[in-house]
Amino acid sequence: MERSFSGIQPTGDLHIGNYLGAIRNWVDMLDDYDCIFSIVDLHALTLKYDRAQMAQRTLDAVAVNMACGLDPAKCTIFVQSHVKEHAELCWILDSVTPMGELGRMTQFKEKSKQHPENVNVGLFNYPVLQAADILLYKGAVVPVGGDQVQHIEFAREVARRCNSAYGQVFPEPQALLSKVARVMGLDGVNKMSKSLDNHIALTDSPEVIHSKLATAMTDPARKRRTDTGEPTKCNIHSLHQFFSTPEQIRWAEEGCRTAGIGCLDCKKVLADNIAAVLSPIQERYAKIRADMNTVKRAIAEGDERARKIAAAVMTEVRDVLGLYVG
Ligand code: TRP
Repeated sequence: MERSFSGIQPTGDLHIGNYLGAIRNWVDMLDDYDCIFSIVDLHALTLKYDRAQMAQRTLDAVAVNMACGLDPAKCTIFVQSHVKEHAELCWILDSVTPMGELGRMTQFKEKSKQHPENVNVGLFNYPVLQAADILLYKGAVVPVGGDQVQHIEFAREVARRCNSAYGQVFPEPQALLSKVARVMGLDGVNKMSKSLDNHIALTDSPEVIHSKLATAMTDPARKRRTDTGEPTKCNIHSLHQFFSTPEQIRWAEEGCRTAGIGCLDCKKVLADNIAAVLSPIQERYAKIRADMNTVKRAIAEGDERARKIAAAVMTEVRDVLGLYVG
């Protein structure tokens, strides 16, 4: 099986945008790829973070992903900082990376603007560590969202550069883009995101989902119940595509265009459907949270498998670099 590698930021606060855009695709890949997932805690150090929460957030990230269907019996889930070769390979890749290229990366420019008080070397070097993550396992495919394409392109470039400087050692990883490019937030303006507070969390109860949707943006033309609307201009309609049956979608479209139904009727059906999708995930999550040992065991096993692969690849890398290997 081809190997897939992906990195997950250490947070358990995920929303339906994360689920539709990323996690669901990872779950779908489990039978067809040798999947490796890393909780990238070293990457998380590049922004200000809460020391008291980091360890728990790492566990939560694994717990939530397991609850969504990332079965540790079918893949490898490990913690990046537990495999020291990530930092080691990062240094080696640093030595073939021109500074100018990193300075031009979109994420670096954005993050530097957002946090002008904390433009650290780690933030600058972030893409190299990410390339090291992938290449350390000779990852062939990397399932990611569109915002990461530039980083995967960079990893390909790094692989090519190493191969031509030192000899064939790394495959060029291929980005595997999720079909759902962008899930809009409840404000109808921005991409769904926790920091903008326009999201439905995977842990939201049916009541919370209903009340969040009740105030969510719709087609602005429908000010009154009797106004007709255009579904394609409505954010709720776009969410229906992910959660509702074709009959429900047709019912909503027609009702909207003829003012046969109100926005609240339409939202209610959507809220019920979202709650139904989240309910089994929340049940599994509650069970996993009640026994975090399953999570810890999954990580310990994942760490061990990751370390084995990483050690073998690093031996090969040191050799092609011409380092004295004894
Ligand atoms: N940068 C990725 C993100 O923010 C996370 C990540 C780190 C990653 N290392 C990776 C993704 C390796 C894919 C492969 O989402």
